[in-house]
Amino acid sequence: MNFMEKIERQKQLDRLHEEIRTTEHCPLCPDRTNAVPGEGPIDARLFMIGEAPGAEEDKAGRPFVGRAGMLLNKALAEAGFDREKIFITNAVKCRPPQNRKPKASEVLACKPFLDRQLELVQPEWICTLGTVSTHLFLEGALTKIHGKDYLVDYNGRKYRVFPTFHPAAVFRVPALKEELRKDFKKLRERIA
Ligand code: URA
Repeated sequence: MNFMEKIERQKQLDRLHEEIRTTEHCPLCPDRTNAVPGEGPIDARLFMIGEAPGAEEDKAGRPFVGRAGMLLNKALAEAGFDREKIFITNAVKCRPPQNRKPKASEVLACKPFLDRQLELVQPEWICTLGTVSTHLFLEGALTKIHGKDYLVDYNGRKYRVFPTFHPAAVFRVPALKEELRKDFKKLRERIA
C-alpha cells in the first residue's frame, strides 16, 4: 500500500475504533468501563483474534494486558514475534460479565466491527486464539485443527487462517502451554 493509502486507511481505522468505543449496539455495552477495539499497525501482516476483553482489558481499553496477555506476550516473544508488529483484537469488543464466554448473539452483533477491521488492515495471516474466533472462519474441534494454516475465503478475500489455543486455556489445562508454544513456532516459520 502506498503512503497516501496508508494514511487514509489509518484515518478510517481511527474513526472505526472511535465508533467501537462509543457504540451501544449490544447488551454488553452498558456494563463496560471501556470498549476494547484492538491495536496494531494498519499494515500488519498478521492479525490475531482473541475472544473478548477481561477485567484488565476493560479497565485499560487495550487487548491482552492481563494475565492471559502476559502469557501471550511470553509465548510470542519465545517464538520470535514482535507484538508491536501484530494487529491484536478480539471477536467481541466489550467485556462479558464475570468473564463468561461471549454468546453467539454477542459475537454476531460485534462481527461487523471485526469485518471492517479486516477490510482496513488487509492482513495476509489471521491467527485465531480459541474456539470463539476460530469458528468464525473454520469448522471442527480446535484440538484437531490447531497448529496448521488454512486458506479461507472470507467476505470475498483470501486469508491464511492459523488456529491455536487461547492463552487463558493454559490456566485450566497446563499441557496446552507447550502446544501453544509449538503452534506459535510453526506460525513463525510459516510466515517467515
Ligand atoms: N482474553 C481475550 O480473549 N482477550 C483479551 O483481550 C484478554 C483476555
